[in-house]
Amino acid sequence: MKVIIKNDYDAMCEWAAKHIAAAIGAKAKTSKEPFVLGLPTGSSPLGVYKRLIEMNKAGKVSFKNVVTFNMDEYVGLPHEHEQSYWYFMHDNFFDHIDIPAENVNILNGMAKDLEKECARYEAKIASYGGIDLFLGGSGVDGHIAFNEPFTSLTSRTGVRGLTTDTLIVNSRFFGNDPEKVPKKALSVGVGTVCDSKEVLLVINGHQKARALRHCIEGGVDQAWTISALQLHQNAYIACDEPACGELKVDTYKFFKEVYKNEK
Ligand code: GLP
Repeated sequence: MKVIIKNDYDAMCEWAAKHIAAAIGAKAKTSKEPFVLGLPTGSSPLGVYKRLIEMNKAGKVSFKNVVTFNMDEYVGLPHEHEQSYWYFMHDNFFDHIDIPAENVNILNGMAKDLEKECARYEAKIASYGGIDLFLGGSGVDGHIAFNEPFTSLTSRTGVRGLTTDTLIVNSRFFGNDPEKVPKKALSVGVGTVCDSKEVLLVINGHQKARALRHCIEGGVDQAWTISALQLHQNAYIACDEPACGELKVDTYKFFKEVYKNEK
């Protein structure tokens, strides 16, 4: 695992956006196959999306041959609901870049048969030969996508119940009322994320310090599903200084020094 520590949120997003753009550019040079990009919602990746939009408008990266798969979606929210992840992704990213609409994949939380929808999604990811790079964030409880604590670390795309912690944290988007937050979501599995050729998580802010500690310094532990990345051969964590608040001084110094010039 490579941990890239940046001074602040903007620097973290800048690094992550450049890293993603470089990966897309590198594949385009050697292959006609689309670059398959996994994407998250949440506040953490917003700065990355903003920077990628700027780079796209400046002609530094193109999404014309990029196929995306989003991590998750609430069950029961239609596309036009402002808190659906479909709406979030179009509002904050897809509507502002040159990606063809048919290249965008988002789980349908309104599907009649949710299990079938999840199986379809896994099969579609597989039909592209898997995901080249999965960008992600982390919940304060260390969940990745909507894989709450104690989800199997080999799980595949499926229906997930959300913990009270997550309902409370996400209630900020639902009038601060946890009762209004959907109790279920569709989510790619921890195994789905870990099967990607590369995983990049953006983790920022003091509220994520505990999750980052468990991700890096704890053991591989189903109580902290992001810790599964310890078994991935090509995993990056980009973080800011406040998120490092619970790391051991030696851990912090090691990553700060060793990956200071990582691109
Ligand atoms: C939700 C999403 C996760 C995301 C997490 C953190 O639970 N399902 O994919 O990582 O929120 O969001 P934020 O970046 O807003 O802290």
